[in-house]
Amino acid sequence: MGVMMTAPAGNIAMPDILTTDDGPVRVIRMNRPEKKNALTLAMYDAMAEAIEKAAGVASLRCIVIAGHESAFCAGNDLNDFVAMTQGGGGLGEPILRFLHALARCDMPLVAAVNGAAVGVGTTLLLHCDQVIAGESASFSTPFVGLGLVPEAASSLIAPRLMGHARAFSLLVMGKRLSATEAKEAGIVNAVVPPASVDEEALTYARAIAALPAEGVRIARRLMRGAPDDIVARIDEEADAFKARLGSAEAQAAFAAFFNRKR
Ligand code: COA
Repeated sequence: MGVMMTAPAGNIAMPDILTTDDGPVRVIRMNRPEKKNALTLAMYDAMAEAIEKAAGVASLRCIVIAGHESAFCAGNDLNDFVAMTQGGGGLGEPILRFLHALARCDMPLVAAVNGAAVGVGTTLLLHCDQVIAGESASFSTPFVGLGLVPEAASSLIAPRLMGHARAFSLLVMGKRLSATEAKEAGIVNAVVPPASVDEEALTYARAIAALPAEGVRIARRLMRGAPDDIVARIDEEADAFKARLGSAEAQAAFAAFFNRKR
């Protein structure tokens, strides 16, 4: 996809998540295109680790979260949701670990979005400071239609960002946004040709990395508020989410997805 990587991060090896350090920028790339980058528990763990460990690498200043040209992320792997309900109904620990890592991350986050961003693929963007989208990218959170509820503190951040009515149509009514609509809603801040998304995101990340790091960190913290409030909402949503996973509505929606091509 035209992204030049110079030094592999080395310590994080997982084929579905590629983590590469390019000077002051860590690129975390979701790499499961055959499943549209649906996130497995192992992928959540690898992404959480890549975010958590970035804090300990003195040369890093910014993190880019990227996907594949065919899809940014199709949300949680629905097979895992089914398995979770059969295994007692808990929300997987790696999911919470990843969401907490996003909320507590003290480094600017930039996202490079091409194709579909579904579910957590969209809600993770609410934790990013700059979101670069390809012209054909789309954004949706079909939680309620799946019998579930919004997660990743989206119930807190989205209404602040775009106002209650627009957040309601996204999070509750499942309205899918085009790249332009996502820009109007404040999720995305630049829409570019699909082939330029990764390079553009790196350009933004390098520009942020060139600023005085401590000033960036303090300004970002002031703008985002205390991570504890975000983490508390993530946990509150997760309790509701867990309860909904086992519901008849959710089970029927998962079955419908996997039977849709038959
Ligand atoms: N969980 C598990 N598998 C998924 C998935 C998910 N969230 N999203 C896509 N896949 C799989 C499909 O089952 C398919 O697998 P197969 O080739 O073995 O049949 C493969 O990825 C490709 O998906 P497909 O639906 O054929 O691609 P598409 O381009 O027509 O549509 C999406 C792409 C993302 C719009 C569509 O796959 C989709 O809606 N996925 C579900 C999104 C979702 O509800 N996520 C949960 C949010 S909480």
